[in-house]
Amino acid sequence: MCGIVGYVGARHATPILLDGLARLEYRGYDSAGIAVITSTGELQIAKAQGRLQSLRTLVATAEPVGVVGIGHTRWATHGRPNDVNAHPHGDCADRITVAHNGIIENYASLRDELMAKGHTFRSQTDTETLAHLIEEELGDSDDLNLAVRNTLKRVTGSYAIAVVSRAHPGRVIGARKDSPLIVGLGVDENFLASDIPAILKHTREIVQLDDGDIADLTATTVTISDLDGHPRQPPTLHVDWNIEAAERGGYPHFFAKEIAEQPDAAHRALLGRIITREPAPTLALDALDALVASGRLDAVRRITFLGCGTSIHAAMIARYAIERWARLPVDVAIASEYRYADPVVGPDTLCIAISQSGETADILAATRLAREANAPIIAVTNTVGSAITRLADGVLYQQAGPEISVAATKSFIATVMTLYLLGAWLGRRAQTLSEPEEQAILHALLDIPEQMRRTLATFETREGQQTLASVTGRLKDCASCLYIGRGVGYPLALEGALKLKELSYVHAEGFAAGEMKHGPIALLDTATPLVAIATEGKTYEKVVSNIQEARARDAFIVALATEGDDAIRQHADAVIAVPRAPEFFAPLLTVIPLQLLAYQVALARGCNVDQPRNLAKSVTVE
Ligand code: F6R
Repeated sequence: MCGIVGYVGARHATPILLDGLARLEYRGYDSAGIAVITSTGELQIAKAQGRLQSLRTLVATAEPVGVVGIGHTRWATHGRPNDVNAHPHGDCADRITVAHNGIIENYASLRDELMAKGHTFRSQTDTETLAHLIEEELGDSDDLNLAVRNTLKRVTGSYAIAVVSRAHPGRVIGARKDSPLIVGLGVDENFLASDIPAILKHTREIVQLDDGDIADLTATTVTISDLDGHPRQPPTLHVDWNIEAAERGGYPHFFAKEIAEQPDAAHRALLGRIITREPAPTLALDALDALVASGRLDAVRRITFLGCGTSIHAAMIARYAIERWARLPVDVAIASEYRYADPVVGPDTLCIAISQSGETADILAATRLAREANAPIIAVTNTVGSAITRLADGVLYQQAGPEISVAATKSFIATVMTLYLLGAWLGRRAQTLSEPEEQAILHALLDIPEQMRRTLATFETREGQQTLASVTGRLKDCASCLYIGRGVGYPLALEGALKLKELSYVHAEGFAAGEMKHGPIALLDTATPLVAIATEGKTYEKVVSNIQEARARDAFIVALATEGDDAIRQHADAVIAVPRAPEFFAPLLTVIPLQLLAYQVALARGCNVDQPRNLAKSVTVE
């Protein structure tokens, strides 16, 4: 996830671009850059590693001066966060530059092809391929729009791009597929941006581009077409948000925004990893292939997950699938315990260190311990270049995009998806998964973003909202609330309880449903609601029995069940329905109402949702 901005008009472009990037920094802040066409027709590029302030310092001494330009703030996916990999990226002679948000999945083969034709690459990014491809397509022609369209027809993956060219000094071209891009309409000036806050200061008239759109901007015109050049006329929207609301995408809290972003995060988690080509999707995990080539996985006989909080819940969910698919024993270790234990670890233990921030002190310490024992390490993190990546032999990025709310949402689902990819890869390698089984997993993963959209849509309906509101009413004043589940439903119960307690300060605990009668059932009474994960699966009947036992103790029962399960209604006081999904994949949907419930209870109790008391986003101290 990166931020893009573009300007063409009569004003000095640099401050407009820098200001726009400041509003997009939430989308990434590994590096930033701008490219401005000067009045003498030069293309001046300034880029700097780190937050936008580094770029501001750089341009303060040599400011590009011109009225047309593009800018970018980066959340690295391909290539380390440094000056060279910062966007915009130029072609061989820096005649054309491109800023890009997304992942070009076939960049490696395109790059080989372009290098064979004599193009010289300077960065490790997938984006630079676009600049060279536009150069190639443009050849001696003057038709920049056609060259961009032809380029985009050759790429697979996702993109929002902004392009400027020295030979076309009064224009900015933008295009999108699976990454956001809007056009802002001004008076004798026009704008491009990844998100509304970047340009809200200048205009409130917005055009949302659709996938496959290309927009050609001059100071006085905006022409939109599809990639075949057929004109399109999307509607102009008037935005009346203030800047603060716009940064949250119109949502009252980042937590709510990030819940809503989960389908996109799930989609991004698969980008570049499941290649959707005919006749069947294939799995591509380059980081793991490199580990195999290095021999680091040769001795591996078991897996240990290391993490804390929500990350450990994601690992506990994935453990079931990985054991089933790869037939390897999997341990899940809380990092703060592991680091002071005397764990049995060595080259036969693949340690998978999971951390959204990549900076959690306990996880770093536990990972160092495993590393000292010569265990191969894979980091699963959302933060490119974070400390955990430097301790690892290989990195799988969650690709969830920046998570601002302290309570984790989209990084949880992106972690589960990433670990499932890893599980399928291990199963294929160990030949414990048949081809059809692997295909079923890939298809189930590919279906998740759409099923998440459906799940979210359920809670926008009147009925969905009423159900949430009635359960919220019941939970908001209780002293304690229990969550239960079995199989993958158990760690999900832990995650649901964690969300409730950290956001609303209502005491909540998650239990393996089968453990209830070994103690926790003593807690149940009329004042202690029970939230049961009762979606379809191997242990469904068992969970229903546990629900009945709780109901017999007068507990208020909330059941999270599969859509169409009417039978559960006789056992529960409230039923929250989620779309049907294969058992291992259901938590990716069921977690959504759990997050929404915690959110509603926190709101009802007047809590600070985005920054709950006593908590920090990144726990860098022990
Ligand atoms: C809960 C939450 C925390 C984090 C934990 C680990 O909503 O956000 O429990 O999951 O602090 O953080 P990372 O994944 O950054 O290591």
